[in-house]
Order: sequence, then structure tokens, then C-alpha cells
Amino acid sequence: MQEKIIILDFGSQTTQLIGRRVRELGEYCEIIPYNKFPYDDSSVIGVILSGSPFSVYDEKAFRTELSRLRGHIPVLGICYGAQFIAYTSGGTVEPAPSREYGRAHLTEIDHADPLMKDIERGAQVWMSHGDTITSIPASFKTIASTAEVPVAAYRVEGEKTWGVQFHPEVYHSECGTQLLRNFVVDICGGRQDWTAESFIDSTVRELRRTLGDDKVVLGLSGGVDSSVAAVLLNRAIGKNLTCIFVDHGMLRKDEFRNVLKDYEGLGLNVIGVDASEEFFTNLAGVTEPERKRKIIGKGFIDVFDREAHKLKDVKWLAQGTIYPDCIESLSITGTTIKSHHNVGGLPEKMNLSLCEPLRLLFKDEVRRVGRQLGMPEHLITRHPFPGPGLAVRILGDITPEKVRILQEADDIFIRSLREDGLYDSVWQAGVILLSVQSVGVMGDERTYERAVALRAVTSTDGMTADWVHLPYEFLAKVSNEIINKVKGVNRVCYDISSKPPATIEWE
Ligand code: XMP
Repeated sequence: MQEKIIILDFGSQTTQLIGRRVRELGEYCEIIPYNKFPYDDSSVIGVILSGSPFSVYDEKAFRTELSRLRGHIPVLGICYGAQFIAYTSGGTVEPAPSREYGRAHLTEIDHADPLMKDIERGAQVWMSHGDTITSIPASFKTIASTAEVPVAAYRVEGEKTWGVQFHPEVYHSECGTQLLRNFVVDICGGRQDWTAESFIDSTVRELRRTLGDDKVVLGLSGGVDSSVAAVLLNRAIGKNLTCIFVDHGMLRKDEFRNVLKDYEGLGLNVIGVDASEEFFTNLAGVTEPERKRKIIGKGFIDVFDREAHKLKDVKWLAQGTIYPDCIESLSITGTTIKSHHNVGGLPEKMNLSLCEPLRLLFKDEVRRVGRQLGMPEHLITRHPFPGPGLAVRILGDITPEKVRILQEADDIFIRSLREDGLYDSVWQAGVILLSVQSVGVMGDERTYERAVALRAVTSTDGMTADWVHLPYEFLAKVSNEIINKVKGVNRVCYDISSKPPATIEWE
């Protein structure tokens, strides 16, 4: 049985990071809403309570029953998790004199405590809380302090329960990995047996058992997730898998042809469908961003459904859904900023059973699995690309001519990033075709042509992002090449907005 750590999610923005860090240690874990602990699951070897946007005093604060956890399995509370354990045992939690946010250093450490093994005095930790524990019950023992926070970490004597008020999962916490390793491996006894190889073996076995001789259809997008899902399924059920790759006409330059060739090289059974004309017709004259997205989303479902119906006896629809898409969200606001077309819609329409072999993996794990499956590096390290493609990078209405202009400019930018060794240090890059024209001069001629914006960002998950400080010489070279070679463009700008408040795509 696959042993696991459970992370109880109290709504912190860093809960997913805890999961990723535990997985990086080679230990399998699952993120579960704070009130849904699987008490009947005997494979759970430890539990981590996450942080939370709430204070323990808040009426709406998320609470969980600790008596069934404490004393039964090892428990580690992080930030709110630590405050919640202390508070419910009679400790005092109070608003911090100033909201504590940012770097601090561990001044006192109890090295005899297993959680603090090999953590150096002075190690930097990351604090982010409005409250702080000001007194702990008699059975609690302080095991680390910082200059401002006397109880930076504690242990409950006589049981395997710990709390830390800092965030070991955040990369700024230098001792974070060591602390999590101490908990997961030494305290919980984790075997660290979660590897790409073990995942592939068990998933292939499981897929063969579940799918038997059934036929499966999968939509490829050219992106990492759907590609890895396809190769994994191909290994499990071979020719019973049919992949459909739809060209909506708004892919990058030559992408349809190149990616199709890659897929065929991987031995996949792929049907490439060029539906670009249909999409251009449906989009003609449409300028409103959400309407464009909806039209492409619906068009994609229609084309896919039509193609899939040409196949006989298909029982399953496979998708490259990954873990961050599945974690039950505790989002408190729930506002839709943009509708991402590839999430939802298709399964309801097609009346097929859903098969999602990557639903337990984080993005970096998907990449590791892809490498282990022997997929080419350029497919694995590919930047993310939005489902609606260049349509959300053309402001205003879409025409084949505008797509052509953007494809040329984008090709120059991306190729240059690769040639100058910058591609892998950028999380995502692309060009946006603006809806303004400006005056320029070419030779002796006055021009009145379009402007494009270059966008390159760093990010870990697309939720937040910052613009990349690309070298001026590089930007100059790309700008020159675009203006000289792409007919219809006479001005290049560089987008220096971070997310938030901007977003990565312009629409
Ligand atoms: P935003 O623009 O919301 O983008 O900051 C965040 C990330 O999501 C990608 N994106 C999409 N991906 N379907 C997708 O699969 C979509 O409709 C879509 N819209 C945006 C975007 O490229 C970035 O990586």
C-alpha cells in the first residue's frame, strides 16, 4: 500500500507548496480540506496542518477535531496550524504587535528535539502571520525562538505533536527542507518511496486493470500534461488509445505540423484535425475577450466530439488534468477572472467515463514522469500555452492575417530566447498584437502599422508572476528583427507588469 502524509488545508496560499515540498522528499502526500481527514485510511503515517487566512479567534475560522489525531499519529502544525493546536490546548494567541511578515532568524534551538535535528542556529525562516502564540500550556515545550517570536516552534511532551509558527514550505526558509525531512522521514518513518518510476509502474498496472480492452480517446493540446498523459496511456493500452489534436488556427507558427510529428515519433495513434476555417468563421468580428474564449471553448468541444464519434465503441475520455486542478479549493472570494476553456465542458457533453492518470501529480512531477517515459526534452520543458492560443494575444477581432503577423513575431521572440539560452529561465513568453497603429518611418517612407508587446514572466504556477529582466541587448536584437522582418509591425514594446495586478495574458 502507498503510504502517505495528509496535509489538512485550512485555506493558506502556501498549502500546495507544503504538498510539493513533501513530494520533493520522495514522500507521497495528499491535500485534503481541513474537515475531511480520512480516519479509516491506515496508510496515513502523519498529518500536517496548514496555515490559514483566519485568526483562531475568527468566528468563521476553520476548525477540526484534534482529539482523533493528536496522540494517534504524528502531527505538525504550521503557522495557523500551530496556533490552533496551542489555542485549543489552553495556550494564548494574540495579535502580534506588528504584523510579522518576512525574514527572521532562529536564535535559540533545542537540538535534542528530533524536529530540530541538523538545523543551524541563525537559520533564516519566513514568517507570515498577524497573530502570535504568547503563552503555551505546561505540557508544551519551546524548541526554537527568534528575536521577535519566543515560541517560534514547540513540541507537546508525551505525544508526537509539533508546531512551527514560520513557514518551512516557503523557499525563503533555509532550514525548511531539513525540518520537513525530520518530520516526514525521522518522525513519521516515511520510506521516501514515491518516484517517477514507481508512479509509472503502479499507474500502468492500474490503468490496465481499470480499462481492460476498452477504447479511450484523448485530446492533445501540444502541452506537457496532455502529452505525458497520452504517452503513459499508450504504454498501458497501446492502440486502444486514440488521440485527437485539433488545430483551431491560433497555434504558434508551424506548431500543428511539428507537434504532430513529435507525437507520431512517440508512437502515438494521433488524428490531427485542421478546423481553423471553422474557428475563424465563428470568431469573425468578435472583440470581447470572454466571448472569444467561449466561442473557442465551444468550438473545440464540438470538433472533438464530432471526431470522437467517428471512432467506434469509445468508452473513456482521458484528460491531462493535474493535481492543482483537482485540489478542492477553499477560495474565499471565488471570482472568475478569466474562463479557461479546457477545464470542464467536454466530459458532460460526451457521456464517457473520465480517465485522468495524472490527477495526483504536481507539474514538476509530470515533467519527471515524462522524462522517465523517454519523451524529448523540448516537449517536456515547453512553456505553458493558453488553450485559446493566440486568440487571447490578439487584442480586438481576429483575422487570419493578424494571426499570421503574430505568428511571425512570436516565432522570432521564442527562437531568440532559445538561441540565447534564455528559454529555460523564463516560465512563459509570447508576443501580443495590439489593436493600435502608430506612425513610423522605413527608408524614405512613412509607415502606419501595428505595435506588438513582448511578454516574458517568471512564475511557479501561473497564479502570481513577475516580468523577466531580459538583457537590453537581447530586447534590442529581437525588436530589430521583428520590425525588419514582420510585415505590418513597426513598433515593439516590452510589458513590465507583474501579476497581480496585471495578468499574464492580455485577455
Ligand atoms: P493569466 O492570464 O490568467 O494566465 O494570468 C495564467 C496562466 O494560464 C494560462 N491561460 C490559459 N490556459 N486555457 C489554458 O489552458 C486558457 O483558457 C487560459 N487562459 C490563460 C496563461 O497562458 C498562463 O500560463
